[in-house]
Amino acid sequence: MTNLLINIDHIATLRNARRETFPDPVHAAVLCELAGADGIVFHLREDRRHIGERDVFLLKETVRGKLDFELSLASEIVDICCSVKPHLATLVPEKREEVTTEGGLDVVGNRGAVLATTKKLQDAGIEVSLFLDPDPVQIAAAAEVGATCIELHTGDFANARTPESQIAQAHKLGQGACLANELGLKVHAGHGLDYHNWYLFRQQVPHVQEVSIGFAIIARAVLVGLERAVQEMNALVKAYR
Ligand code: PXP
Repeated sequence: MTNLLINIDHIATLRNARRETFPDPVHAAVLCELAGADGIVFHLREDRRHIGERDVFLLKETVRGKLDFELSLASEIVDICCSVKPHLATLVPEKREEVTTEGGLDVVGNRGAVLATTKKLQDAGIEVSLFLDPDPVQIAAAAEVGATCIELHTGDFANARTPESQIAQAHKLGQGACLANELGLKVHAGHGLDYHNWYLFRQQVPHVQEVSIGFAIIARAVLVGLERAVQEMNALVKAYR
């Protein structure tokens, strides 16, 4: 069965747009879990554009299911993650000018830094996942630096606009998932997954233990309510294989 973890960054984005104290991502996390989510994801960015330290520490206290802390290799954030001790730390690339995370981590090009950060987090008792494009070279490097898990970046699949390119991207993800599984890595996936592309994703991509979904669920929640939006996506995800 596949677990659904919900990224609540967009609740904090809305709060911060008015420099307000609401909507509170901590309240949203409670509602997501009550609606059946298996856990919560957040990204503490270096520029703090949405989630801040206050959220991180309260989420650690209040989330009952799995807590996934997304972070870059920046040592300040790695230190915060080590003190919070979430269940999972997902290392992602981060650029100030991007609207959202673009592309997977370059493990090959940053091997030393990824290896050192992975070890530091693991020494703090945190499982480490690397957010990667479905590139066999990067996936093999993830196993070499000691990660036990990868999150496949599904953005190119989600952005594909023709049936042929959607199938081609889904196929690449499927091959990446098989390679990771052969190397003994757990497979997670996320970015741009939604109520519409889920069916093709689940048909083509095996071995996925966990998905991280934010925008589609929070955007739907604005119109139909968070409980319904979570329940509908969870029903789709739980039908995976
Ligand atoms: N996984 C990672 C590593 C991400 O950076 C994001 C976006 O914050 C997601 C999953 C969720 O993507 P989306 O909001 O498009 O569902």
